[in-house]
Amino acid sequence: MKALILSGGKGTRLRPLTYSGAKQLVPVANRPILFYCIDNIVQAGIRDIGIIISPETGEEIREAVGDGKRWNAKITYIRQDAPAGLAHAVKTAAPFLRKSPFVMYLGDNLIGRDIRKFVEDFSKKKSDALILLKEVDNPKQFGVAEVSGRGNIIRLVEKPDDPPSNLALVGVYIFSPKIHSAIDRISPSKRGELEITDAIQELVFMGKRVRSFVLDSWWLDTGKKDDLLTANAIVLDEWGKKDITGTVDKSSRVLGRVTVAKTSLVKGSTVRGPVVIGEHTIIENSFIGPHTSIGDNVRVINSSIEHSVVMNGSEVLNIDRLEESLIGRRVRIVKNSRHGALRLMLGDDSVMEV
Ligand code: TTP
Repeated sequence: MKALILSGGKGTRLRPLTYSGAKQLVPVANRPILFYCIDNIVQAGIRDIGIIISPETGEEIREAVGDGKRWNAKITYIRQDAPAGLAHAVKTAAPFLRKSPFVMYLGDNLIGRDIRKFVEDFSKKKSDALILLKEVDNPKQFGVAEVSGRGNIIRLVEKPDDPPSNLALVGVYIFSPKIHSAIDRISPSKRGELEITDAIQELVFMGKRVRSFVLDSWWLDTGKKDDLLTANAIVLDEWGKKDITGTVDKSSRVLGRVTVAKTSLVKGSTVRGPVVIGEHTIIENSFIGPHTSIGDNVRVINSSIEHSVVMNGSEVLNIDRLEESLIGRRVRIVKNSRHGALRLMLGDDSVMEV
């Protein structure tokens, strides 16, 4: 079994962050989303991993992930010249995948459980695709499946006006090599992409067995700001630890599961977990509230931050209440006069003075 992680694409929904960086490297609890995908694949015993990259952000992804030694895995980078669809990405990866079955994992998706059970089940029972589904409140916004009582897929529809169920396709799939002949038979959709839903539907038309599992954990598509903040909160809640190797002075209070990296300093502040604070960061006369990730080389002075992600190299000075905000890299937020709460989505290299 191999794995293919899709880490190309346009990332339009996360602009401006994605003007200057890959969305799969946006941090959740101070680790790139993509790393959680790799963790999950490796935990399922798969070590031969291909990563689809785009010409724009491919180098950055290569640099962040490396050759896979960190995971004891082998990583092959596969360049997709244009983001022409998920099925197009599989087509591009055909020389890597060859005749192997594979897990396909969208590099901006996070799920709350391991995939080992699905991989084992796929290997045991004869089928040509296994897809993960999740009940959602708003199926009109997703690819949706109509499923038989035994979990076999009858029909898939992309963003339907009249959804046949509330079961959305999660960005994790397992395919046999038959998927390649299904992809050869489909043509680009109205939006000009080769859709994986069409290819899976084609497998059903070809009389192949396409099975499904309904995911019993959370699932987040981190391609949007609010999902990213939710992902950050959930990951901190579930996997956050108390680990203070940095310096916390006597006048500070640290409550709950808080990680402060070795080279960081918390001074005259209250930190209420779950919170993670990266390296070379200074928190001074401030409150860092629950569900907040502060990156490396960040300065937070005379400020209060809750339910937010502040990425590397940013500064937050004299901000009374910053909440539900996603702050890119090297952003400077400075307040010079009194004002109310702030809700922000700022890209890399932004400067904001209030
Ligand atoms: P999407 O989030 O569906 O597409 P996108 O990255 O273009 O984002 P947006 O809608 O905000 O413009 O893609 C899911 C994942 O698959 C994501 O990690 C990017 C990746 N991808 C590819 O690698 N190649 C592709 O051709 C496409 C469409 C996506």
